[in-house]
Amino acid sequence: MPIQGGLLEMQESVNRNILVTGGAGYIGSHVCKVLSDNGYFPITLDNMTNGNKWAVKWGPLEKGDIRDRELVDQVIKKYNPDSVMHFAADAYVGESVANPGKYYNNNVTGTITLLESLRDHDVDKIVFSSTCATYGIPQKNLLSENHPQNPINPYGASKFMIERILDDFDAAHGLRSISLRYFNAAGADPNGEIGEHHVPETHLIPIVLDVAMGKRSHVTIFGDDYETDDGSCVRDYIHVTDLAEAHLLSLKALESGSGSNNYNLGNGKGFSVKEVIDATRRVTGEDINVKIGSRRSGDPPYLVGSYDKIKQDLQWHPKFTKLDEIIETAWNWHKKYFNHD
Ligand code: UFG
Repeated sequence: MPIQGGLLEMQESVNRNILVTGGAGYIGSHVCKVLSDNGYFPITLDNMTNGNKWAVKWGPLEKGDIRDRELVDQVIKKYNPDSVMHFAADAYVGESVANPGKYYNNNVTGTITLLESLRDHDVDKIVFSSTCATYGIPQKNLLSENHPQNPINPYGASKFMIERILDDFDAAHGLRSISLRYFNAAGADPNGEIGEHHVPETHLIPIVLDVAMGKRSHVTIFGDDYETDDGSCVRDYIHVTDLAEAHLLSLKALESGSGSNNYNLGNGKGFSVKEVIDATRRVTGEDINVKIGSRRSGDPPYLVGSYDKIKQDLQWHPKFTKLDEIIETAWNWHKKYFNHD
């Protein structure tokens, strides 16, 4: 696949080029913004299956798939990136249960193709978008990184496999990695430049905001018979800009010679589906119509993470600690985006 002309010459003079796979997606685009704000030049490689063109604002977009080795090689030769941030993946838990082949193919095969290209072009640092879904059903309430990883859905399993593959690439080829295990990414850029938009939308907060805007009639709570305080699933919602800052700190750690590592990225606090809906009522001032549905397969009842390790090693801590604040940033962007739709 041919590569579009770009800003190659200018970028070669200062190598702060970072290849961002999946940079047109929700989390990838927020990371590109933070990279750019900190003097880096993000090059997005995205097949645009789940990406949004409007979200690529801080560097060039190379359209293509990480499974296309020839294309990946071309992009790496063209921009000579110093490091990689790897987001490109399918990330719907429910879909992964129904169609596991898609997840192992795109996520695992795609990552191997990417890593082999990095190895062959001497790119030796990668920050990887992993997930708390690698833990499976928690054995205790606050998950730390040494909790056993027993994923219960193919999405989590694919990310777990990649973590393992990254360890092996470090041992064999010196490709150092930091895997960031996100809990539930939420919210939008506080300046309202970008936000969360998936097609189809399956994530709780944007769905509830759609109801608040009158774009949907109701939100269905997937199960209210879990062993949690109010019967609905509990998640740890972490603001996407806090996530993005953690990527920057991880990159800097790798640049300073840090070895491979993994970190949880969460707020350390859990909120149930019902609490998220109540918070959205408070933030939007709208009534939210709710129906109770059956459980969604692949959903653990309770996922809340400790962020002690990254706080200790990289001095990261979340700045958005209140659920209402997180939802407010999402609501501001949601209104702006969909009023122009
Ligand atoms: N939920 C509903 N109704 C909906 C949508 C979601 O009740 O219409 C519930 C889900 O069952 C879950 C919670 O809201 O209990 C959050 O669901 P999301 O779909 O927003 O997020 P997930 O927890 O399923 O998934 C997210 C990320 C994954 C990541 C996972 C880790 O999208 O990439 O967190 O738990 F792996």
